[in-house]
Amino acid sequence: MIKKFLDLGLQPLANKYQKKPTKLSVSKGQLYNLNVSFNTKSKLVSISKRIPSEKMFNSKYPYRSSMSHTMRTSFKNLSKKIKKKFKPDLLLEIGSNDGALIKNFKKENVIGVEPCKNLAKITKKDGFLIYAQYWNFDLVKKIKKRFNSVDVIYSANTITHINDLNNVFKSINYLLSNEGILIIEDPSLLECLKKNSYDQFYNEHIYLFSALALKNLLSKFGFEIFDIENLSTHGGSLRYYIKRKTNKKQKISSRLNIQIKNEIKFGLHKFEAYKKFSVNVLKSKIKLLQILNKIKNDKKKILGYGATAKAVTVLNYCNINKDLIYNFTDTTPEKINKYMPGKNIKILRYNKNILKNYDYVFLGAWNFKKEIIKKEKKFVKKGLRFITHIPFPRILS
Ligand code: TYD
Repeated sequence: MIKKFLDLGLQPLANKYQKKPTKLSVSKGQLYNLNVSFNTKSKLVSISKRIPSEKMFNSKYPYRSSMSHTMRTSFKNLSKKIKKKFKPDLLLEIGSNDGALIKNFKKENVIGVEPCKNLAKITKKDGFLIYAQYWNFDLVKKIKKRFNSVDVIYSANTITHINDLNNVFKSINYLLSNEGILIIEDPSLLECLKKNSYDQFYNEHIYLFSALALKNLLSKFGFEIFDIENLSTHGGSLRYYIKRKTNKKQKISSRLNIQIKNEIKFGLHKFEAYKKFSVNVLKSKIKLLQILNKIKNDKKKILGYGATAKAVTVLNYCNINKDLIYNFTDTTPEKINKYMPGKNIKILRYNKNILKNYDYVFLGAWNFKKEIIKKEKKFVKKGLRFITHIPFPRILS
């Protein structure tokens, strides 16, 4: 049974930054109702509304994996590990974005799949083989004809963005070699509930995986998880190492059982945990608005740092307008001088002195808290304060 537990109100498409302030409407399909549900049987958590992929992942997609030092380092370290542990002759990445991972491999050893043509162009220009198409069975039949099989399939923050998971895993099953390894990396549902990070939910994040739910899903395709890593990226992610059940070469790590035990201890297999979460989300909204309103009444100015998709959920759920957060700033070229969807707060180009015009910073990219505060320490010394809503809204001391 599918049971709804969270209503985040009317939301715009998160990564659709507006060229000019625009009043969005439901009738034009620019706003949708963001509800989140739990499937009591499969244990899968998903948003109810499905937006067609073409509307989200197209040649205007603004998200770039290489924009933070944290992510570049994470991909670099992972590529070293993959080379050492699995020695793949051929690795394929589903959702290769601007090449943050594949750039660490020799061109003849990697294939990228990236449907956003603006991003695919970046890595194609560097000489990588990129299929600028959606990951599905039709594409995979074409790849199989040319390469027969691949040794490692990797995908970070992409599979949860694809509606038809059966097609995703059927395609992986068709292309992965018998002893091949599948590595999937996505935000962790357990961390999301623990951190009260409801902003992990937006139109692109159709699913939020737990090890429990993924285990069930993989089993249908003859796959099993043999190891798990907890990562700090994207506010707490899980990296799943997966093999065919028939492949006895890889041993099952105790880390898998530890993760499953932790998820069950938290109650991820039961609806009650999700109900509790939804109460905490409402409390978070009330508290954040109190903080922002107090600062406004004190006539102080707040800058949003990181014009993230997550921040779009927060702004629209909490009804935060320009009177509360005056501007955002971001380093991503595609976002600069555009407006936060639904709330029309202008995104300014980042420069190292931008913070001097503000009294407070709201961490839109709270998942990069350490990196950002370190980068801006001279302003912290001068009295600039940071606000975060994770795990609960507060001004950082
Ligand atoms: P991310 O948290 O991955 O975003 P999303 O919620 O959209 O998936 O993205 C971080 C954003 O923050 C990205 O647009 C780049 C920006 N950013 C800065 O502008 N400066 C920084 O120092 C860092 C770390 C990120």
